[in-house]
Amino acid sequence: MSEIDDFRQEIMDKVSKIPGLPRGYIDTLLRMLPYANERRRKKLVDKIKRLVETKFNEHSMRSKNPLLSFPSKEDAVGDGVIIGYVCSGDRVLHPFGLTTENLRENEFVVARSGHGKTTMVFNLVDQLIQHEICFLSFDWKQDYRTLAKKYDDVYVIRWHELAYNVLINCPEGMDIKLWWRIVLDIAAHSQGLLMATPAHILRVIEELYEHNKGQVTFRELENHLKSQHSESRKENEYSAIAENRIFNINQALDKVINVKYGFEIKDLFRKRIIIEMFPLDFSVASFLIQTIIMHEFYRRLYNQVRLNRKSTLDSEFKSKFCKIIMDEAHLTQYSGQERSLVSTELSLPPLATFFSQSREMMLGTFALTQFPHLVMDAFKDNAGTMIVGNIVETDQQRDLSSSLGLDRDSEKILGKLEKGTWIARVAGRTKPFVLKTPDIKKGDLLADADVLQRSRPLITALDMKRQEIESRMFMVQVEKKSEEVHLPDLTKEGWLLLDYVFFHEWSYQQQITEALGISDRKFAKVKQDLLDKNLIRIQKFPVKVHDRIHFSLTPNALEIMKILGRPAQRIGYWKWISGVPGYEHHYWLNVLRVKHKILGWNGRVEYDLKDGRRVDLYEELNGHRKAVEIELSTKDVENKVRVLTDREVDDLVLLYREESTFQFARSKLERMENIPKEKIWIGLIRDYVELLDNVIKGPEKSGNIEGTGSTVPDHEQNRKDNGNNGVIG
Ligand SMILES: Nc1ncnc2c1ncn2[C@@H]1O[C@H](COP(=O)(O)OP(=O)(O)OP(=O)(O)O)[C@@H](O)[C@H]1O
Ligand SMILES: [Mg+2]
Repeated sequence: MSEIDDFRQEIMDKVSKIPGLPRGYIDTLLRMLPYANERRRKKLVDKIKRLVETKFNEHSMRSKNPLLSFPSKEDAVGDGVIIGYVCSGDRVLHPFGLTTENLRENEFVVARSGHGKTTMVFNLVDQLIQHEICFLSFDWKQDYRTLAKKYDDVYVIRWHELAYNVLINCPEGMDIKLWWRIVLDIAAHSQGLLMATPAHILRVIEELYEHNKGQVTFRELENHLKSQHSESRKENEYSAIAENRIFNINQALDKVINVKYGFEIKDLFRKRIIIEMFPLDFSVASFLIQTIIMHEFYRRLYNQVRLNRKSTLDSEFKSKFCKIIMDEAHLTQYSGQERSLVSTELSLPPLATFFSQSREMMLGTFALTQFPHLVMDAFKDNAGTMIVGNIVETDQQRDLSSSLGLDRDSEKILGKLEKGTWIARVAGRTKPFVLKTPDIKKGDLLADADVLQRSRPLITALDMKRQEIESRMFMVQVEKKSEEVHLPDLTKEGWLLLDYVFFHEWSYQQQITEALGISDRKFAKVKQDLLDKNLIRIQKFPVKVHDRIHFSLTPNALEIMKILGRPAQRIGYWKWISGVPGYEHHYWLNVLRVKHKILGWNGRVEYDLKDGRRVDLYEELNGHRKAVEIELSTKDVENKVRVLTDREVDDLVLLYREESTFQFARSKLERMENIPKEKIWIGLIRDYVELLDNVIKGPEKSGNIEGTGSTVPDHEQNRKDNGNNGVIG
């Protein structure tokens, strides 16, 4: 009997691997076997072999791809989100689609570099768009920006365009202290430190939060830790490590996280967005990605955003679900996080929780890598769909084929797969089968300017909402505080203008009106009120050709900012820029420093030379030293030239605000003897700025430095809020 069983098994196995056989007929013949007498049985066996073996041998000989059994056309459609085509050997049979259940259960794709992983995502994105499913993709190699060109509603955000105060922008409905714990946990795990979050760091955040009336940033946390010296040695050690970890994050993500509130994070999960992480250090990038993902996870958890019933691709699914795409997944979900001491002794990385529960919250991850052993186990354990392409390493072949459910004999086929050919298996749905994905032309490389322009509408929308939230937060603060102490009686616009100027020290009138979205007439009224109350001063001076109006804050205004809990560092910075020799002088110093920085110079503002002499700006590039002096009124030329004659610098730039002063200084200079005149550039400030602009704009660079041309880079600079603008290292 068992001989018949074996034969039957063998035949069934072969039948399942080749398409186009009369399966029903063969099945009937096989079923007749046990009842036939020996002679008849032999005839039957011959007949079956003729039907099957010849076809099978033919098929397998001609086929480069392995022969595996495959899901039938009916079983393969899923809910119609097609990821590729079912194959039998080389023959492409029918499309393979995922179900909504599969989509929620994560997909794990592994293949050697250059074997079509990213191309597979491009196919998927096409499908997601067709089915109106949202996605958020993290891109490490600027591979994905071409998608924004191809599809109208795919947007690219570069990491530095994000704004997200991870400490204040807490998931709706979640206790903020609980959230801080998660954020610090992510910081600990992503920075690879052997320590979880000590309670006293949480205490510091809480103190700052209370003291600043509901405001705190990572920057303030770092400053506070630096200034604090605890009685306990252990706490100091903790602090030193935490400080270092927070320093790294602040250093890289300064303008992103050290903001008042930032973007509404949930909006990132309601569209089709690519966030470019290039060229951010991967541990810092991973911190940012994880806080964004965990934020949305907890928001959904606390707001019961779940799918209540088993569903197909209906509108409820489409409106809630978001696919998270992690190409180069070993970077985002580096498995070292699970194996660190923090994990083994204290807490699992937050992402581990995410991967095991995200399906409940209508989030699913599509992760791809060439280094499967560096991807978190929590993800692999929760990946319902497994897709493996070419892999050469034998250990990996063994591991992956066992995850796929291939038998030991078939392991080697993983080493022979061609580009775009995969062995796939969906848990609970299919056995391992051959899947093929089509090649897609990726399109031309896109320049930054192009990407920027296409994604502008999204960023503008996010920014507008942000502004609204931040204004609201500030007004709540003002109202609360005015119950305790006397504050000047200002209109809402008055307060917002004051606060805006406080954080955007170099913005001029037109920029401010636009940012606040108020009419010119209203602005004039508000301005007058602030002038009358001695809170602002007008700073009017020529920039380029025309005069521009800037505002500086008075000591009065700064005192109020202090009462409202605004960062002390920024207040100190304001005192510096509005103090002697004045706002305009510092404005130009900043413009010049920023432009030199773009050109690769290293510089210091108000720099002391060896003999105690001070220059306004000291710049160095490849050993070449340059001093820049801004002379708004004095005519003290002889003294300035000494830095050259004393060989403390190689070049001297003397800049003047007005034509007459400049002419006067020049004639003085011309009369001087024994000075290296060829090493002195003397002229008007705005001419020198234009000169720098022209160098910056040079033909090879145009398009990359958007926004830096006219004055201070608007966008970048406006974000800055660490009070460090003047001295950029
Ligand atoms: N199905 C396919 N058939 C033929 N060629 C393909 C297929 N898919 C991708 N390719 C080609 O292979 C090359 C690499 O593809 P892709 O960038 O998708 O690989 P990858 O696995 O993402 O690589 P990496 O790990 O380096 O990011 C591309 O030039 C692409 O055109
Ligand atoms: Mg790739």
